[in-house]
Amino acid sequence: MASELFWWMLYLVIFTIILQNAFAGFKIIINKANNVSSLNFTEATALYGYYTEEHTVVSEDGYVLTMFRIPKGKNCDKAVRSPPVLLMHGLLVSSDAWIDSGPEAGLAYLIADECYDVWIGNARGNHYSKEHLKYNPKKDPEYWNFTPNEIGVYDAPAIIDYILNNTESKTLNYIGYSQGGMMFVIMCSERPGYCDKVSQAILLHPATRMNSTKSIMFRMFTKYYDTVQPYISSASDLEALPQGGILQQLTGVLCQNKILADTLCRSIMYLIDSEHPEAVSVPTIQTLSNHFPAGTSVKSMSFYYQRVSTDRFSKYDHGREVNLEVYGAEEPPAYNIKAVNVPVVIIHGENDHLTSPKDVQWLSKQLSNLVELYYVEDSRWNHLDVLYNQHLKEKMFPKIKEYLFKNSE
Ligand SMILES: *[C@@H]1O[C@H](CO)[C@@H](O)[C@H](O)[C@H]1NC(C)=O
Ligand SMILES: *[C@@H]1O[C@H](CO)[C@@H](O)[C@H](O)[C@H]1NC(C)=O
Ligand SMILES: *[C@@H]1O[C@H](CO)[C@@H](O)[C@H](O)[C@H]1NC(C)=O
Repeated sequence: MASELFWWMLYLVIFTIILQNAFAGFKIIINKANNVSSLNFTEATALYGYYTEEHTVVSEDGYVLTMFRIPKGKNCDKAVRSPPVLLMHGLLVSSDAWIDSGPEAGLAYLIADECYDVWIGNARGNHYSKEHLKYNPKKDPEYWNFTPNEIGVYDAPAIIDYILNNTESKTLNYIGYSQGGMMFVIMCSERPGYCDKVSQAILLHPATRMNSTKSIMFRMFTKYYDTVQPYISSASDLEALPQGGILQQLTGVLCQNKILADTLCRSIMYLIDSEHPEAVSVPTIQTLSNHFPAGTSVKSMSFYYQRVSTDRFSKYDHGREVNLEVYGAEEPPAYNIKAVNVPVVIIHGENDHLTSPKDVQWLSKQLSNLVELYYVEDSRWNHLDVLYNQHLKEKMFPKIKEYLFKNSE
C-alpha cells in the first residue's frame, strides 16, 4: 500500500514538473511572438542595418500622423537622388506593410537602396496615427468620423507639405498603393494646387470605382460594417479591425506557427484576394500577421461598401436627406478625376480580386495625363503581391525604378 502511494506521489511530482515546463515553454513562445509583433518600423528596419527617422505632422483638422523616413538606403553609395519619394499604404495596413517582406523584396528598402530619400506615411486611424489634438480615440466617437475623403482632403496635403518643407524640395514622387492611390485622386479633386506639388504619381493597384471587385470576403466585411454602423455610437465600436484587436491577435499568434502560416493563414490571404502559390514566403506571412489588419474607422468600411455596390467614384452617401444638407443634392457628387493634371503611371495585376482590372481601366480612361498603364508580367499577380510577393524585385520593381529614374536628378 505504502509503496503504491509513493509511486503515485512520484508520478504527481513528475507530472507537475512536466506541466510547469510545458507552460513555461508556451509562455516563451507567446512572448517571442509578442516580441516580434512589438517591433515597430524603426526597430524592424534597424534589425537589417537601415537607419530610420520618425516624424509627426498634424493635419488641419487635428489628427496627429506618424511618418517614417529612410533618408538613405544601406546599399546606397552615391549621392541621394531628388526629389524625395512618398509611399502611401492601403486600407487596413500601415507603413509596416512596405517592409514586412524584408530587404530583398520590401518596396521601402528597394527604393531607399536606389539612393532615394524615402518617406513612409500613415493615414489617420491606423496603428501609428491614432492621436488627435482634441479627441481621444478611445472615448470620443468624433475621432472616428472620417472616410478616405478626409484622408485625401487633410492627411495627404499635411504629409506632402511637411516633406517638402523638410527636404527643401519643390515636388515629390508620390507612390500610392490601393487607398494610397484613391487619396491622391481625392486630394487633386478637392484641394486645388496640391496636385502640382507631386511631379509624378505612380499608382499601384489604385482603388477608385470598385463595382467589379470580385472578393466576396471584402464585400461581406464592408457590408457588415455598413449594416451595423447606424446602430453603434461608442468610440470603441466605431473603430474597425484594429492592430491588437481580437482578430489580429488571434491570427498573429496562430500564424507564428510555420505549418499554420503555410496553410490556414495562406488560405485566408487567398480568400481576401486571390490564389497565388509561391508568391509569399512563410516568414513574410509570420511577420505580416503581426501588422495586419492595422485598423480604420467603421465609416471608412461603409464608404468602401458604397464603392463596391455602386458604379460611381463619389463622396460619402449619407442618405437622401443629409445629402441635400451636406451636398445640396440628393446624390453625392462624383470626385473630379480630371483634376489630376500631373503625369500618372498605373501599375496593376490581372489576378487582382480587390481592385479589378475593369475598374482600373475605367480610372485610366478618366485621367488626362496617363503616361502608362502597365500590367505585371505574371497572370496571377494580385493585390497583396504589391506588399508581400517575394519576387517583387524582379517582377514589379523594374517598372517603378524606370519611372523614378525618369523623374530624378
Ligand atoms: C519605436 O521603438 C523605439 C524603440 O523602442 C521607440 O523609441 C519609438 O518611440 C518607437 N516608435 C514608434 C512610432 O512607436
Ligand atoms: C518648416 O521646417 C522648419 C524646420 O526644418 C520648421 O522650423 C518650420 O516650422 C516648418 N514650417 C512649416 C510650415 O511646417
Ligand atoms: C460596373 O459599372 C459599369 C458602369 O455602369 C458597368 O458597365 C459594369 O458592368 C459594372 N460592373 C459590374 C461587375 O457590375
